[in-house]
Amino acid sequence: MVESRIKDSRLAPEGRKRVKWAEMHMPVLMRLKNKFIREKPFEDLRVSACLHVTKETGALVRVLKALGAEVFLAASNPLSTQDDVAAFLAEEGIHVVAKRGETSEEYFQAIESVLKANPDLTMDDGGDLTVKATEMGIKAVGGTEETTTGVIRIKALEREGKLLYPIIAVNNAETKWDFDNVHGTGQSALDGVLRATNILIAGKKVVVAGFGHVGRGIAIRTRGLGARVIVTEVDPIKALKAVMEGFDVMKMEEAAKIGDIFITATGNRDVIRGEHFRLMKDGAVLANAGHFNVEISVDDLERIKREKRLIRKNVVEYDLGGKRIYLLAEGRLVNLVAAEGHPSEVMDMSFSDQVLALKYLLDNRGELEARVYELPRDLDCMVAEMKLKSMGIEIDSLTRDQREYLRSWRV
Ligand code: ADE
Repeated sequence: MVESRIKDSRLAPEGRKRVKWAEMHMPVLMRLKNKFIREKPFEDLRVSACLHVTKETGALVRVLKALGAEVFLAASNPLSTQDDVAAFLAEEGIHVVAKRGETSEEYFQAIESVLKANPDLTMDDGGDLTVKATEMGIKAVGGTEETTTGVIRIKALEREGKLLYPIIAVNNAETKWDFDNVHGTGQSALDGVLRATNILIAGKKVVVAGFGHVGRGIAIRTRGLGARVIVTEVDPIKALKAVMEGFDVMKMEEAAKIGDIFITATGNRDVIRGEHFRLMKDGAVLANAGHFNVEISVDDLERIKREKRLIRKNVVEYDLGGKRIYLLAEGRLVNLVAAEGHPSEVMDMSFSDQVLALKYLLDNRGELEARVYELPRDLDCMVAEMKLKSMGIEIDSLTRDQREYLRSWRV
């Protein structure tokens, strides 16, 4: 059995309050629990997960446990764990191996230890668990992947024929990426910047690197707070979308000279690097909202700095001689390190997709190949319907004539 390894079990009462608060704002997830509680689809099954250990993840794993699963949970970032939540979950019988501030070595050991449980199902956020499962030769019934970066990595595994079991790219469900990635990150990345710095956004020039779902969400929300938003991109279509949504688009080389705050959301490495730091204004603030801490080249900052010091929680001042640059959250996910991650209301949909994806993998056991699958459309729609219902919103349905019309070539 995997023992829980957490920071301090005395934090459990605080964690309990936090998870209950999340559950209150996750009505679809709670309805799914009630819907499947008799059937207990995960009875006698082991689920190993690598997810950010937040109050929302707490709500998810408690649902899986209520539906019969034995859950083994590792963090998907060394700095994102909410230790009180981890303590509460451990008390509730979840095997949690996660501590905020764990070393990189401890982080990978934690993933390995939850995989040693020999899971029937896996859940991953970023791909580290799936990659490790492949290395360990684990053949689960199936797994899920929560985020864009992870989907890119498992597709690479698939291309090389290395994937050992089917994985559903939960990230690509519409009820996930059109809400979690856009509105979840849009709000929580700003929340992280604000909690760390408490600076005024109105009137600032904010540079958003990347205009995918995440970058777009950040750009929209930042503009909403009164910033002048500049977007940088490498993809011409995304760049054009940004232009036509009214954002200024330019090269990072130009943006670097005028930006007050920089937020990266590209999924790529070295998007802001030495040559850009040299051009920046005194006082520029840098934050990352992408999965890995590779988007802002911290190595370059370290190389060119004269001195550095922690000036506030999650804010390090780099003195470059004549000017200062402020790096938030060590260049890791600012929304999870400096704030609490996405709000419960969007995680409600993402994690309902997770539950339905896991159940789908079980219901189709033996039928699926070791490939990357999308969440079936009917399950995606079901989550949207349930969410609308929970919000008390009713929508129209097609009449018979309208359905016919849409199926026909006749006008
Ligand atoms: N990813 C982003 N926000 C999150 C949250 N609140 N919980 C789990 N994973 C997340």
